Amino acid sequence: MTTFCSDKLQKITTPFYYYDSVLLEETLNEVKKREAAYSNYEVHYAVKANANNTILQKIQQKGFGADCVSGGEILAAIEAGFSPNKIVFAGVGKSDWEINVGLDQNIFCFNVESIPELLVINELATAKQKKASIAIRLNPDVKADTHANISTGQKETKFGIYFEDMDKVLDVLRTCDAIELIGIHFHIGSQILKMDNFVSLCQRINQIQDHLEQVGVQLKHINVGGGLGINYTDPEQDPIPNFADYFAVFNTHLHLRDTQKLHFELGRSIVAQCGSLISKVLYIKEGVNKKFAILDAGMTELIRPALYQAYHKIENISNPQEEYEEYDVVGPICESSDVFNKNVKLNVAKRGDLIAIRSAGAYGEVMASGYNCRTLPKSYFSEEV
Ligand code: LLP
Repeated sequence: MTTFCSDKLQKITTPFYYYDSVLLEETLNEVKKREAAYSNYEVHYAVKANANNTILQKIQQKGFGADCVSGGEILAAIEAGFSPNKIVFAGVGKSDWEINVGLDQNIFCFNVESIPELLVINELATAKQKKASIAIRLNPDVKADTHANISTGQKETKFGIYFEDMDKVLDVLRTCDAIELIGIHFHIGSQILKMDNFVSLCQRINQIQDHLEQVGVQLKHINVGGGLGINYTDPEQDPIPNFADYFAVFNTHLHLRDTQKLHFELGRSIVAQCGSLISKVLYIKEGVNKKFAILDAGMTELIRPALYQAYHKIENISNPQEEYEEYDVVGPICESSDVFNKNVKLNVAKRGDLIAIRSAGAYGEVMASGYNCRTLPKSYFSEEV
């Protein structure tokens, strides 16, 4: 459970990200413990969730692999100490230089999302006289109960290759001497709390595997992506997601072959709860029928509420004893969508109070922008303040 020492935080220039290193450590230990219950499971941290170098180092030190979606992420992961032979590289639009970074670093696996990409990887690997290990990202056409913008596994999304096209893919693969097919890859979406969605994914993978074996394709690896959700409503109640139940779903429902390894690409579930965006109240503005708490942080620091109507718990950490009042909590950016939430019950707030926007460790700092010529937020760890 994260506690905030508002006296110490008050001295730091806002807005900034605050990471609870103890909670991150506990979360990582829990993932490790639950993963270790299955000798053939391997977790790659999805760097896109938070690429802060200190966070990457802490994760890497626990022995996790990395899931990257750009050349920049591969380089950031390697700089933080991740071993290239534990790096997977996905993405529908890999540039030639990014593929070359992957080849030069001898990464574990390219998750390939189209036939044209397959041909380019083959060409670039041939030029380097290397063999690229690849997994085909298949679109399983499985629905995830989550926001449409972060659902990826249904038919009409740009992600993955349709299973109906797999025979075509296999034909093309036979012509690609610089490629070795080692696995299949899936990812149905993010912030998924219904375990049934993952059960459906397992069932679909079982059908796909059976079919592939019938046509003579044996695979060493299955990668089921990420997607495990967290409790945004009450971060204190579930500071650490239920990894035990999550892994158990795959153990029960996925028919893994004896020698196969199962890979996961978890992002949000690992880093979301340890991070908070800390901001100051600039003004309390009286509206006609409401009050606005205007913060010095906005959608430039945390875009999730504006982009996905995402809920983040908001707390006044300067005045935890005060009674409650309702505010629309907004940022300073010149956009009407720059609203963290409406009708938020906060301990009575005044200019200078510190506001914590919780569960912001995933897709927070990493999605910050310089819109309105704002400076990118800094980050601090609990052991530093
Ligand atoms: N693997 C692949 C192929 C992915 O596309 C993603 C996330 C992950 C793994 C990690 O998923 P996670 O375990 O974090 O759910 N910006 C959005 C989330 C976008 C997720 C994109 N892909 C948000 O703030 O909710």
